[in-house]
Amino acid sequence: MSSDFKPTNVLIIGGTGTIGAYITSSLLSAATPKPYTTLSLFTRPGWDSNPSSQKAQLIKHWQSQGLNVVTGDVESLDQAGFTKVFEDGKFDTVISCLGRATLKYQPKIIDAAEHSQSVQWFLPSEFGTDVAHNEKSAQEPTHVGKLALRKHIREKIQRLKVTYVVTGPYFDMWLYPTPGYEQAGGFVPAEKKAYIIGDGEGKVGFCTMWDVGKFVTATLRHPAQSFGKALKVQSFIVTPNEVLSEFQKQTGFDFEVIKTPLPEIESLEDVLWDKKSDNPQPNPWATLVTLRRIWARGGTLYEKNDNEVLEVNQEDLDTLEEGVRRYLAGGYKGETFGVKA
Ligand SMILES: NC(=O)c1ccc[n+]([C@@H]2O[C@H](COP(=O)([O-])OP(=O)(O)OC[C@H]3O[C@@H](n4cnc5c(N)ncnc54)[C@H](OP(=O)(O)O)[C@@H]3O)[C@@H](O)[C@H]2O)c1
Repeated sequence: MSSDFKPTNVLIIGGTGTIGAYITSSLLSAATPKPYTTLSLFTRPGWDSNPSSQKAQLIKHWQSQGLNVVTGDVESLDQAGFTKVFEDGKFDTVISCLGRATLKYQPKIIDAAEHSQSVQWFLPSEFGTDVAHNEKSAQEPTHVGKLALRKHIREKIQRLKVTYVVTGPYFDMWLYPTPGYEQAGGFVPAEKKAYIIGDGEGKVGFCTMWDVGKFVTATLRHPAQSFGKALKVQSFIVTPNEVLSEFQKQTGFDFEVIKTPLPEIESLEDVLWDKKSDNPQPNPWATLVTLRRIWARGGTLYEKNDNEVLEVNQEDLDTLEEGVRRYLAGGYKGETFGVKA
């Protein structure tokens, strides 16, 4: 591939998902010149069977902004089927935003891209915690799938360029407590309660969900600087106590603060992962609680992030103040991406 490669036909897989929708929306509304010529979404067949569904309305809205739609199922489509999809659409860049339940299909998809005549650049579904942060990262149960994919890529992928976009926790989501496990952190303005792990003084590097979209757009604008890298990008780095102060400032209330020491969170993890059992049956919330512990223990802090590599300036990004304001206005759960109710 020539060093002046620029994405032309971009395919986004999982682009209607929790983070995928922000990435698709951001790419569609990117300033001209856009970092692609065509943008296509790979979505499951039947997306338009109920035109009043949120997904159908969102995709229709995106189509009016120029999005193309390709249908298929990542579970049933085999490697050769994916290669055909890539070549038929002349896709040179593929962004996977698949969620945890479908990450297991990524090796098949990336192998298909490697064997295609068209795909040059692949961004696997990362958009989260740095899974190679330190020597303990390899033992984290939450990192198994993403680390296995990185190994697969190191061993099997030779031709494709690969970039991981590592965003850390989404601030918009981190603000919501985990139902039943509130001690793992979160803010409940209606009850004037804040749940904080530890003393609340440890810094955490966050990305807002809109900024994840911004960073992926910036990545597509910087292929040569991004090839072969795990780019660590962040909107802001703050302590839970600073977030609490911002809530108190914006609402005018004093919050009751419930602090839980880190060792208690670690004991909770053991229970949720069912570690003492011979045949562990992890609780569905185990992943979230472990990630919150990793973030509280400094798992989002780097000597330097890669915002500069992508030429993204602090003034282009969301602030703590904006993040809290958005949460108080309904949060990411109320986001419509411009679709009128
Ligand atoms: N940093 C954080 O705080 C954080 C939080 C959450 C997630 N993440 C990460 O973000 C990434 C994306 O996760 P997510 O939660 O956003 O994903 P998600 O919402 O669970 O799913 C993404 C999309 O996958 C597609 N999909 C599911 N099954 C499919 C199938 N059989 N065939 C084709 N497409 C299928 C769906 O698209 P269609 O319905 O259009 O087919 C769905 O919208 C993951 O790597 C996850 O670990 C990070």
